[in-house]
Amino acid sequence: MNKKIIELKNITKTFEHHQVLKGIDLTIYENEFLTLLGPSGCGKTTILRIIGGFEEADSGSVIFEGTDMSKLPPYKREVNTVFQKYALFPFMSVFENVAFGLSLKKMDKKVIQEKVEHMLHLVGLRGFEKRNINQLSGGQQQRVAIARALVNEPKVLLLDEPLGALDAKLRKEMQVELKKIQKEVGITFIFVTHDQEEALSMSDTVVVMNEGIIQQIGSPIDIYNEPKNRFVAQFIGESNIVPAIMKEDFLVSFDDQDFKCVDHGFLSNEDVEVVLRPEDLILSKPEYGQLTGTVTSITFKGVHYEIIVNSHHRDYKVQTTHYYEVGTEVGMSVIPDNIHVMHKMKEA
Ligand SMILES: Nc1ncnc2c1ncn2[C@@H]1O[C@H](COP(=O)(O)OP(=O)(O)O)[C@@H](O)[C@H]1O
Ligand SMILES: [Mg+2]
Repeated sequence: MNKKIIELKNITKTFEHHQVLKGIDLTIYENEFLTLLGPSGCGKTTILRIIGGFEEADSGSVIFEGTDMSKLPPYKREVNTVFQKYALFPFMSVFENVAFGLSLKKMDKKVIQEKVEHMLHLVGLRGFEKRNINQLSGGQQQRVAIARALVNEPKVLLLDEPLGALDAKLRKEMQVELKKIQKEVGITFIFVTHDQEEALSMSDTVVVMNEGIIQQIGSPIDIYNEPKNRFVAQFIGESNIVPAIMKEDFLVSFDDQDFKCVDHGFLSNEDVEVVLRPEDLILSKPEYGQLTGTVTSITFKGVHYEIIVNSHHRDYKVQTTHYYEVGTEVGMSVIPDNIHVMHKMKEA
């Protein structure tokens, strides 16, 4: 495991009687690409601002390489931020924008030249040095903003929804690009997004948040396959979430059927919830299914069809490459590995 670079310890923050962060504990490691993921308003930007020093927590501490930096002003932190609004200087050239921080530090002209050229190369903007900012596309401006932050060689880069303003295709390209840049420079990225696909495809670690509380921390695969609760399961992907009873270890019951599963450690007969991904439900003839149901709709989605099957208890969303007429009676099965049992979430 890499060395710890930042630790947040029991951070709380209240704005106008509204508690926005409710005790955030988070450890971030060197070279990690960590993403804060959650719906708008859940407190992601506030966490970044507290790490950057633009906002002070009400309680708790921000530890940087073992030292409390809660009271340090932003410019004394080895952290740089790329905001959603890039805030580039419109009257300066690309070169001048990237060189700005280094010029302020009165660094040697030749060293500045080298560093800026290196960064522009890294973000794919070699040859754009003399261009004006308003002669650049949104994606190119985004790259300038990243180069400008990275040229200062921060130990940590904070990125607050930096791709939010780009159209879908460019956004995908920049996701790949950013990940590549992060690997090349080897510094810690703390990335904020409300887009689950973006978070899953780019990150080493995803932190899922809701209403000022961390719901789950894990690798993208863990978060997708082993969501800790209904919120994470729903936020991360389209899921069937079914109320169930954990009869005993490795045996769960829903829709009046018993299913073998791989989960254990629950109370006997505990009320639980089961996550079934649409791609994990297997359709068959009715007599071969663990459950049966009726196809009530079918929608072509490009790679697959999305089908709704009514099991007489509830609707299930199913993905399949086969076409079924509405009204067809089908069987539905799921292998034990693809049944994921969760503790029931307490209603807030
Ligand atoms: N300076 C502020 N004053 C008052 N309320 C704020 C301030 N900053 C953020 N908030 C509120 O705190 C909550 C969390 O905001 P934010 O951290 O920006 O969420 P996110 O980035 O996840 O969308 C929101 O309800 C927002 O309106
Ligand atoms: Mg935000």
